[in-house]
Amino acid sequence: MAKIKLATLSDIPEGGMIERSHEGRAVLLARIDGEVFAMDNICNHMGACLHEGEVGREGKYMVTCPWHEAHFDVRTGKVEQDIAWAEDNDAFAVEIDGGDVLVEM
Ligand code: FES
Repeated sequence: MAKIKLATLSDIPEGGMIERSHEGRAVLLARIDGEVFAMDNICNHMGACLHEGEVGREGKYMVTCPWHEAHFDVRTGKVEQDIAWAEDNDAFAVEIDGGDVLVEM
């Protein structure tokens, strides 16, 4: 796996999410308490862009899909519901090097 620079730290607002892409794959970057997390940005239920949803509403690390409210743990990409209509997404390791956000993909 390679570490790909997808953003600089200042691109991601604290408590917010942005989208970046690498080789056609949309990646969500979220910043929570100064820490950056990365996972697939496309909800595998019906294709919503997860960065347009909410982070923190259902728990500190939970991203809520804007269309039908599946909840993904941004640390793992896993759906956190008993009866889930979406499946787990992939999450990626993140390293901060200076101000660069490097994502292992
Ligand atoms: S598109 Fe995300 S829950 Fe339906």
